[in-house]
Amino acid sequence: MSGLFITFEGGEGAGKSTQTRLLYTALSEMGYVVHLTREPGGSPGAEALRELILFSEAPLSQRAQALAHMAARADHLDSIILPALLRGEIVICDRFHDSTLVYQGYGLARGDATSLDFIRSLRGLLACEPDLTLMLDVPPELGAARVAARGGKLDRYEREEAAFHERIAEGFDKVAREAPERVKRVDARRAPDEVATDILSIVTPYLPS
Ligand code: TMP
Repeated sequence: MSGLFITFEGGEGAGKSTQTRLLYTALSEMGYVVHLTREPGGSPGAEALRELILFSEAPLSQRAQALAHMAARADHLDSIILPALLRGEIVICDRFHDSTLVYQGYGLARGDATSLDFIRSLRGLLACEPDLTLMLDVPPELGAARVAARGGKLDRYEREEAAFHERIAEGFDKVAREAPERVKRVDARRAPDEVATDILSIVTPYLPS
């Protein structure tokens, strides 16, 4: 595959939507063909699943949530991400596999080994990994304050208690330690333009010449 696949990860209120947008603009201005997308969602089918996953009032078991995220991801990969990468283009995706391991595996299943294996097996079956993952680090309390300031309707995960978001922060920390080659951490407590400058310097060596 000749394109470049960049994912952004992090807890709630880390500033991923701002930073993905800033990177999209910077790379587009440099003349690259760039796709900015997100998960769950990113394709019409996956966006329909997003509504169900995030906003349905019906309870969904942890395994069902993992499978639903993977189903949305399969559609997103097949219809948007893989075709773009095959054409040699750049894809920037707000959340991907690491979010499933962290939210469903470390958050909902509290790091239970069978659940982590279940998620890792599904991930293996989908057979597509990012070239680079930017992990935006903010303490969960700061993230929660940013979400509260933003207002709007809370989704299934934003409604979870503080202890859940502590587990999410610990989960992302484990993910970053396990894959230091792929996952680059960025201090996202700072002003958006400072964070964006750091991100661009991390991404630059990966860009096709
Ligand atoms: P976002 O718009 O903040 O990215 O919201 C998406 C929510 O979905 C966020 O709380 C993280 C959660 N999520 C999972 O639980 N598992 C996943 O696999 C993905 C992609 C997202």
